[in-house]
Parts: sequence; structure tokens; C-alpha cells
Amino acid sequence: MKSKIYITRKLPDYIIKKYEEKYEITMWNQAETPVPRDVLLKEVADADALFSTLSEEINDELFEVGKNLKVVSNLAVGFDNIDLKAAHKYGVPVTNTPDVLTETTADLTFALLMATARRLIEGSKCIEENKWENWAPFMLAGTDVHHKTIGIVGMGRIGEAVAKRAKGFNMNIIYHNRSRKADFEIAVEADYYDFDELIEEADFVVSLLPLTNETKEKFNKAVFKKMKNSAIFINVSRGGVVNEGDLYNALVSEEIRAAGLDVFADEPIQNDHPLVSLDNVVALPHIGSASVETREKMINLCFDNIDAVLSGKKPLTEI
Ligand code: DGY
Repeated sequence: MKSKIYITRKLPDYIIKKYEEKYEITMWNQAETPVPRDVLLKEVADADALFSTLSEEINDELFEVGKNLKVVSNLAVGFDNIDLKAAHKYGVPVTNTPDVLTETTADLTFALLMATARRLIEGSKCIEENKWENWAPFMLAGTDVHHKTIGIVGMGRIGEAVAKRAKGFNMNIIYHNRSRKADFEIAVEADYYDFDELIEEADFVVSLLPLTNETKEKFNKAVFKKMKNSAIFINVSRGGVVNEGDLYNALVSEEIRAAGLDVFADEPIQNDHPLVSLDNVVALPHIGSASVETREKMINLCFDNIDAVLSGKKPLTEI
């Protein structure tokens, strides 16, 4: 009998086909909408493997129902949707998708930084709304990226890839992390700063922090107050690391210049979200790793992890 894999989103047939010969694959029938909780709990009851996304809460309740589960393979590098203690308690290994999305997410981080600094979305809207009447010396004048100081908070693989891009723009690179990275510092001529020092010094503050109890709302009123009035805040990690009300106030009171956000505390957001009403915010719908090539790699890695565990081997990227 084939082992059952339950997948919480509809994935393209050309990918699924490769695995169907070996496994019984059941999928939620929609790509854009998360599986309802009751359907998930029903499906997981007889599944050997769960292929999940960041939209599902993987917790005690789920493991309690999923008595056959041998692995949970999560389509993301971040894993704040997973209660690892519960997984451990039930003896189920959990995997994520590191490395394969590093460069793509760094590209998006830099794109967001540039779009925010140079007001690209405002410029595009200006034409769309037929508001471009004349050229003017300071029309949509943004701020330079080159030769500015980028402060990266959370220096993992994506942070390093962002720093390499920043070096190409002749930026001064400073970073804060739980541990120092000597080789990286030499390779991109980066300097390690205390969090508070970085916040005060950086022209661009880039958050790549995972969401944990320690990082929850790390960027709050007091932190935004310490930033330069000209600072631009970029967040591509998790919305929960920011107090969004405090960010809104900091932007409105011009304590900081602008923000580029790919992630929000409670996703998905709608256009009535206060931050979206601000011209100095560039908001994206959590598309950091969303290139076709990378999403295919992430999906394949999820399957490789499942395949390894169901074949009695060690998962490739266990958390
Ligand atoms: C991740 O991998 O954690 C991203 O946020 C989702 O692609």
C-alpha cells in the first residue's frame, strides 16, 4: 500500500505527477486559499506525511489527530507556524526549506529597499492615475541607496546575500546578530554593531529576524524613535517582529522616512490596513521567495524531505 501525503495547497500537476507513482497524494483543492482547519484535521488523521505551508498552525491538536504522521514538511524557511515542542513530544520530525530561497529572497529585499528609497510605486501610480503633468526638479525625489549605511538585523544566509548586493551598491554594511560572523565581516567589509547602535546609525534598517518570543515586536516605538528621521525600515522576515501601530505612528510623525514591508502581523491584509494608506509605505503580499524557479525548488525539497523520511532515511533539512 502506498503511503499517504496530504498537501495543504493545490500544487501544479506537472510537479505532483513525479511523485504520484510512489505515493498516494491528496491535496486541498485550492492554490490561493488555505485549507479549512476541519478539513486539515480530517485529512491528517490517516496521513503518513503532511506537506504544509506557513498558513497552517502545526500544533498539539494536529499531532494528536495525526497519529500516523511520520514527518511534517513545511514550505518555508521560517517556522513560527510550527510548535516544535509539540512535534518533539509526538516524535515527528519537521523540515523547512533553507538555502534554495536565499538568493531569491535577497533579490526581493533589495528590490523593496530600492522601490521604497526611489519611490517607484508612487511613480508608477502617478502615471496610472494620469497625474504626471510636467517634469519638475524635485518631483518624486527619493533618497540615494549607494554609499548609504545598511543595517541588517538578523544575519543568516539571506542577510549575507543581501549584504553582497549592498556591497555592489557601495553601501557601508553594518549588522547585528546573536553571534558574530568573522569570515562574512571580512568578505563584505561589514561591521558588527549592538542593536541600539545599529538602529541609530543605519540609513536603511533591514529586518531579517525570525519571529520568536524574543523578537516579537522588537521594532517598537522606542526603537523607531532612535532611528534617524531619514531612515527607511525594510521588513522581509515576519510581520510579528514589528509593532505595526508604532510603525504607523513613526511614519506619520516623520520620525522615520519610509517603510518597505513584505510581511504583516496578521496576513493577509486588506487595503484598509492603516499602513497601506501611507504614500511612504511600499507594501507587498509576502512574496519574498516567490519566483517560479525558487518555488519549484522549495516544493521539490519538501518532497525530498518526505521521501527521505518515508524511505527510512534522515530528512535533508530537519529543523
Ligand atoms: C519563508 O520561507 O519563510 C517565507 O516567508 C515564505 O516563502
